Formats: sequence, structure tokens, C-alpha cells
Amino acid sequence: MAPSLLACDFARLDNEVKAVERAGADFLHLDVMDGHFVNNITFGPVLVEAIRRVSTITLDTHLMIENPDRYISPFLDAGADILTIHIETSHDAVCDLEAIRDRGRKAGLTLNPDRTFADVRAAVPGADLLLIMSVFPGFGGQSFIDSTLKTVEEAAAFREQEGLSYAIEIDGGINPETARRARDAGVDILVAGTAVFRAPDYATAIQEIRGAGTP
Ligand code: DX5
Ligand code: ZN
Repeated sequence: MAPSLLACDFARLDNEVKAVERAGADFLHLDVMDGHFVNNITFGPVLVEAIRRVSTITLDTHLMIENPDRYISPFLDAGADILTIHIETSHDAVCDLEAIRDRGRKAGLTLNPDRTFADVRAAVPGADLLLIMSVFPGFGGQSFIDSTLKTVEEAAAFREQEGLSYAIEIDGGINPETARRARDAGVDILVAGTAVFRAPDYATAIQEIRGAGTP
């Protein structure tokens, strides 16, 4: 379970990071947006580096930016553990994934909801993680797009058939109900912003999304 920091109270960043860590988050999902690939701007390597200094949690960094190849080094230098690039913006996904792995970090590949698994099939053997977007990226709080579960099923079947081991992650509109359907389809890692950071109790929210009941 990877809470997405996008929905946190940024004025209390240090507290928010530590609170979800204490509440049992496995990863912290960091949404980097450039105002070009998506209609929103968030933060860059400076903030990733600041979070790295206050936490040891795995930093799952999702780059929603044009020309991701130019920013691989800065984000890895800042302390990203997982770096995920979009198939829509990468000029050479195989090469970008390799550049991340060469630095000893986990390489993620992602696709928007209007894509199909066929769009990532050639590059995904070089990825440690396949992130399936279940909303169009840019903003938190959107509704889950059901058709993306088909991509999850295809990704799980291809992994099995080819003897690959990438993790399948889903991002957007995740709540306890959509999380259950995503897990049933083969998802390993659930990202949720609103459903964690806007919940009264982070630990309860994380457990409910995991499908483990209340802690
Ligand atoms: C969407 C981001 C997501 C977002 C999820 O552009 O990639 O990580 O924060 O937010 P919720 O869980 O509110 O849909
Ligand atoms: Zn994200």
C-alpha cells in the first residue's frame, strides 16, 4: 500500500510522511507533474531529497513529465528508490528503464487509461514495476476507470506466461471497494491519495485498502 502524498497537508509535510510510515505504509508515492504532460505542477527533486532526509520509507516516484530521460539522474540523486516513467513521454523506454536499473534502483513503466497492455508489452520485460493508471493523471480525487482492470489482467497473464516478475501497481480512484477489485484482477501495489490522507485515521484507511479489516 503506497499512500500518494499529493493529497497530504503540505504545510505539515514532515508530520504527514512520518504519520503514514507509522500507520503501516509500505511505500510513499510521490507524484511529479510538469504542467506539460499533465495540467498540473507539483514538485521536483528538491522535495524528494527533503523527504529522503526525514524518512527511510521506499520512495515510489511517479514522473508525469516530458523528456523523463533528462531527469532520471536528478531524481535518483535525490533518493528515489523506484522511478516510474510514462510510455507516452519516453523517447526510448527500454533505454530509460535500463538507465534506472544501472544505478541500482527499481525501474517502473506506466501507461494512461486510454492505452492497452500491447503498448508496453515490448518494454515491460525491462521493468521492475508496471504502473497501470486507473485515472488520467494530473489530479487526485477522480473516479476509478473500470476498463483499466482489463489491462491489469493482461499484465498478470503476460507476466505468468513469460516467467517475468514485475510488480503490478495501480493508481487513481483507489478506495476499499476499487482496491478489492484491483487485487482480484492481479494488482500487487495499491496507490491511494484521497482515501488515505483525507481519512480520519491513516492506519485504518491503509488496512481497509489492503483488505485486511481494521488494525
Ligand atoms: C494522479 C496521481 C495519483 C493521485 C491519486 O495524477 O498519479 O497518484 O495522487 O489520487 P487519488 O487516490 O485521490 O485518486
Ligand atoms: Zn501517481
